[in-house]
Amino acid sequence: MCGIVGILGKNPVALDVVEALRRLEYRGYDSAGVATLEDGQLTRRRAEGKLRNLEQKLSREPLNGLIGIGHTRWATHGRPSVPNAHPHATDKLAVVHNGIIENFAEFRAELEAEGYRFESETDTEVVAHLVTREINRGLKPIEAVGAVLPRLRGAFALAFLFSGEEDLLIGARNGPPLAVGIGDGEMYLGSDAFALAPFTNMIAYLEDGDWAILHRNAVEFRDVTGKVVQRPAQMVAAGAALVDKGNHRHFMAKEIHEQPEVVTHTLTTYIDMVSASVRMPFKETLDWSQVERLSMSACGTAYLAGLTARYWFETLARVPCDIDVASEFRYREPPLAPRNGVAMFLSQSGETADTLASLRYAKSQNQTILSVVNVPTSTIARESHIVAPITAGPEIGVASTKAFTCKLVTLASIAIAAGRARGTISVAREQELVRELIMLPGLMTQALKTEVQIERLAHKLSKARDVLYLGRGTSYPLALEGALKLKEISYIHAEGYAAGELKHGPIALIDEDMPVIVVAPHDHLFEKTASNMHEVAARGGRIILITDEKGAAETTIPTEATIIMPTMAPTFSAMVYAIPVQLIAYHTALVMGKDVDQPRNLAKSVTVE
Ligand code: M6R
Repeated sequence: MCGIVGILGKNPVALDVVEALRRLEYRGYDSAGVATLEDGQLTRRRAEGKLRNLEQKLSREPLNGLIGIGHTRWATHGRPSVPNAHPHATDKLAVVHNGIIENFAEFRAELEAEGYRFESETDTEVVAHLVTREINRGLKPIEAVGAVLPRLRGAFALAFLFSGEEDLLIGARNGPPLAVGIGDGEMYLGSDAFALAPFTNMIAYLEDGDWAILHRNAVEFRDVTGKVVQRPAQMVAAGAALVDKGNHRHFMAKEIHEQPEVVTHTLTTYIDMVSASVRMPFKETLDWSQVERLSMSACGTAYLAGLTARYWFETLARVPCDIDVASEFRYREPPLAPRNGVAMFLSQSGETADTLASLRYAKSQNQTILSVVNVPTSTIARESHIVAPITAGPEIGVASTKAFTCKLVTLASIAIAAGRARGTISVAREQELVRELIMLPGLMTQALKTEVQIERLAHKLSKARDVLYLGRGTSYPLALEGALKLKEISYIHAEGYAAGELKHGPIALIDEDMPVIVVAPHDHLFEKTASNMHEVAARGGRIILITDEKGAAETTIPTEATIIMPTMAPTFSAMVYAIPVQLIAYHTALVMGKDVDQPRNLAKSVTVE
């Protein structure tokens, strides 16, 4: 993930910018850069590779400006290179960016037609030219940024520096985090408080959709509508730990909210944004065209990620595929493919005892072992032939959230690669699917906006004794995941069911006391799920529907609440619908006063049977 820093200082800032960037190195990067104002003129230094390369450049050609922005780039659009490194600049401004601007291609075409010249392959450079165009039309820098931000689609954080403006930086956030650090006559911007710890411990966080106008002695926050809002600064413990909660009460909340950003990181690992194709980050080759069977195994939420991915491996790659919970798989002695079998093991920690034992069994059966893990140095990773990292970053909350969605992105990418190798999807279909994946961070950012509604709903849910979750297709594993999340942190009994199974048993439970949470994007199965909702309504059940505009418009029965998700193509809806499902569990547990991050009886890493 890219890192952003900005400093309005009293002394030359370039080396401080680099120091702050060093504290963002943990996010991963492949080039870095800094821009300052020298006598009001924008001057940049950029270098490929590690920060020491940038430092060497700065020692040969120092920058003396008292105001600057800096960036560590994790390549998304365009390979790691100096021209693609940030800051991107015009004669009017320099900008650094974390995230994806989804609609950059249409802006680029429009700007090029007007004579704007591009120097890089990045999506970021369109932002530089869009704001420059507004300044060329006569707007002041603040007005120009205000005019451009509402036109950008996607999940992004931005920082701007303007030529001739010695006392102005602007930061903006739509998805990935951005913090403002308040010093004594100095002001800072950073991707997190940790980056700013050497300079200040007074931190104010931008809310989603906010932008901040920084001067040395004042900062003004504006919300998505442009209205001035208050974002109080808080004292962050000195030397803030690398994994802190940011401005969230719990790690789980932070991890839910950082999904647009970490999912972007996973996307950049598996996707070439420019050609809209998948690429595998591991050097070992796996010839999917020869694979006869895929056997997956995992526990808990990791298992449910695999259950979701089975739909993709079957429909996109037409690979025969089974999945079982690891505690059963390891003792079942299942016959595995005698030739060309792949066994896949999914695990956030990479240490789960049952998953590891299943891996060892599959290895004894001559399967190619592919692990999908968050901790690349874990035992499961070390014992695998091929490791697919999910790059979610440290997950601290016991209830797994971001590791679930990052696993799904990884698995979707592998399924697309398998489909291409097996000839079951065309290049055009691959591009279409990849473009759908690229939209995910933006869609997740929109999905997070349901939180206020979910907070209200949580008060009612907290009084329930039992909750039923229903879904079809990939919404079925998500129904199971919803029930698991609610159980583990609120201790309310919950069950997930395939909606079609309702009339085979669970319908007997329906009464006016039991909430039924229906996960139903408007896809090819929507009508079927709608019939199941009628069956629930006919028995006086309380329906909470998670759907999109179209699904809501076609739902004729009354619901207790309808949570509207952004409209999207159906294949990967589970990644976006996971967000309200996670928020429901989080807020219900919160209302009930439970220990959200460390629920009773549970461990983050289950290394015993
Ligand atoms: O580290 P792993 O992904 O192998 O862990 C598997 C399960 O223990 C884990 O997903 C557990 O179910 C979580 N608490 C779910 O939120």
